[in-house]
Amino acid sequence: MDRLDEKVAVVTGAASGIGRAVAHALLGEGMKVVLADIEAPALARTATELADAGELLAVTCDVSDPDAVDTLRDAALERFGAVHVVMNNAGVSTGGPVWSHTPADWEWVLGVNLMGVVNGVRSFTPLMIEQGEGHIVNTASMAGLSSPPFMAVYNVSKHAVVALSETLFGDLALVGATGVGVSVLCPGWVQTRIHEAARNRPDDGTSGAAASDAGGAESGEDSARAGFAELAASLIAGGINPDDVAAQVVDAIRSRRFYVLTHPEWVPMVTGRVERIAAGEDPLVVGLPADD
Ligand SMILES: NC(=O)c1ccc[n+]([C@@H]2O[C@H](COP(=O)([O-])OP(=O)(O)OC[C@H]3O[C@@H](n4cnc5c(N)ncnc54)[C@H](O)[C@@H]3O)[C@@H](O)[C@H]2O)c1
Repeated sequence: MDRLDEKVAVVTGAASGIGRAVAHALLGEGMKVVLADIEAPALARTATELADAGELLAVTCDVSDPDAVDTLRDAALERFGAVHVVMNNAGVSTGGPVWSHTPADWEWVLGVNLMGVVNGVRSFTPLMIEQGEGHIVNTASMAGLSSPPFMAVYNVSKHAVVALSETLFGDLALVGATGVGVSVLCPGWVQTRIHEAARNRPDDGTSGAAASDAGGAESGEDSARAGFAELAASLIAGGINPDDVAAQVVDAIRSRRFYVLTHPEWVPMVTGRVERIAAGEDPLVVGLPADD
């Protein structure tokens, strides 16, 4: 989509991090932007901070709720009359060994990271096909192209978003919807608040993966999980600036680039995985990408 000015974008997870930066960048391109997020106070703050950058609408929305995403679409249409770009970006994370995650962990993370994207694609794609013009950006992660340890729930959600996006790309081509583009965003570490995602976790009576542990003494799993959380926080703090990610997203929308890998130095991790699959070798058990 080469011309963005005067067009309309919807960005989920827009109150913080990557979503906020993309919303800001799209306003800078002259787009009207609908900011959607579950965290109402942060959303209101962001809307106030970005108000001078262009025309916007803030909508509180839980992307894991299909009806809420339909309501978001309807609010965007009512205010701006069309939607040309949707970025299904809201995301959360949790960590720990695969077996330690509770059903509530799976439900929460898959509900936001996967079903949030499913809901956005289901709700907005028919509109774009009918319009004959549009671009859908789904936020996955490098964790959707590799399987780092202690991130199973997140990895599963992000692999699914890559699969969904690749399938969407093919489906649009097969039905001849040539005006609708797709991108899948796969960043490495970015300086955001993703490691504090539990701030938006619904109160389900558990405290996450740790709730599955029996007994009071700290187990090896507990300390490994705590060590991982600390490491993830420091890697995120050392990540790239969300504005750099936003610039690449804008470029991908303009040039209709499908894969948006923001960290070129991480690409060998992806090619190495494919080579191992082709050679029938075991997966590489990585520490974390920064250790490579
Ligand atoms: N930060 C990184 O290193 C990194 C790397 C790869 C991918 N990502 C992905 O980028 C996306 C954005 O995350 P971020 O890093 O900017 O984190 P962030 O925590 O700064 O922003 C995420 C936003 O999503 C919102 N959100 C959470 N649950 C929601 C829900 N149910 N409905 C609507 N909004 C909800 C949060 O309130 C927050 O504003 C996520 O999908 C994340 O998985 C982040």
